[in-house]
Amino acid sequence: MDSVVQGRALMGEKGAGLAAERFGVVDMPELEYTDEVARETAHLYERVAHHIPEIEWPVHAPYVHAINKLKKERNAVILAHNYMTPEIFHCVADVAGDSLQLAMEANKVDADIIVQCGVHFMAETSKLLSPEKTVLIPDMRAGCSLAESITGADIRLLREAHPGVPVVTYVNTSADVKAESDICCTSSNAVRVVESFESDTVFLIPDEYLAQNVAKQTSKKILTWKGHCEVHERFTADELLAYKEADPAIQIVAHPECPPEVVEVSDFSGSTSGMIDFAVGQKAGSKVLLVTECSMASNIEKEAKGVEFIKPCNLCPHMKRITLPKILDSLVYMRQEVDVDPVVAEKARQAVERMVNLKTN
Ligand code: 13P
Ligand code: SF4
Repeated sequence: MDSVVQGRALMGEKGAGLAAERFGVVDMPELEYTDEVARETAHLYERVAHHIPEIEWPVHAPYVHAINKLKKERNAVILAHNYMTPEIFHCVADVAGDSLQLAMEANKVDADIIVQCGVHFMAETSKLLSPEKTVLIPDMRAGCSLAESITGADIRLLREAHPGVPVVTYVNTSADVKAESDICCTSSNAVRVVESFESDTVFLIPDEYLAQNVAKQTSKKILTWKGHCEVHERFTADELLAYKEADPAIQIVAHPECPPEVVEVSDFSGSTSGMIDFAVGQKAGSKVLLVTECSMASNIEKEAKGVEFIKPCNLCPHMKRITLPKILDSLVYMRQEVDVDPVVAEKARQAVERMVNLKTN
């Protein structure tokens, strides 16, 4: 921690806040592709060589090197969602996973700082589960169309209109919304969470399509909301059937945020990690079409040996705001810090913890 300069004096100048005050800021490392950087990142390049041409590695390597070094000095961990780009997913992440796995990990990581490489609701969830840790997000603008579709006030109105109906909210929501909910769920446990209630009718909000897909797997009556994921709502059944018609051997693997008619023409549907497990489990020579954000196929191509991926490329503009330069910026200047009002946090935490505990019961 020698190079850490106590932050107060630099605060105004670097635009830093409370986290910088607590941990100090450091000088921005030299970002040159030296022999040392080449040597120390060579094993990491091997993980992404199928995706990043050799000529481009000198652009990424100095950031990868600096981030990994600073991460240790700061006692920080990087939690990365499966939609991060390969150089983040394979070269700087300590843990990569779906929303549920990242939430579980935030609960138990031994570090002072979490750098959340994902979107804002994920960073908030980490903060709820690890209030004593400093949670940073490399770009505060990394939002989510689902999280933006509903507010805590909307839930209060729904409860007034439907007294006694339990409210399950997708983890892709703000802390305000979680605080008004009975329990959270992710795409990997939504059916189990909904069925954990005795009530015949359950709200599953705000993702209308996830709710419709879950409704097909349970006898509960599901009430929902008109929120959609702007990445998954764009896929159509016709487009997928055209792929299948061109090559019937293609296996279609869809995320449950897709419209129900898309999930219906798929061979498998599950959370991003469920989709990865399915793809990695296929034998060499298989063809898999991942109906989701397109970084995912690039991230698992090496692990899924011999599987050919067909990539209809829909990018999540929010996830793509997270880049190596911004991650380094976070660790140098200790920004952007994600905090949650303590009163809201207490209630929101209960909703997330009920979900996490359900997983381990
Ligand atoms: P999961 O990783 O939980 O499947 O969620 C997908 C997603 O769109 C997160 O924003
Ligand atoms: Fe939100 Fe969809 Fe992007 Fe996930 S992929 S963060 S659900 S907009």
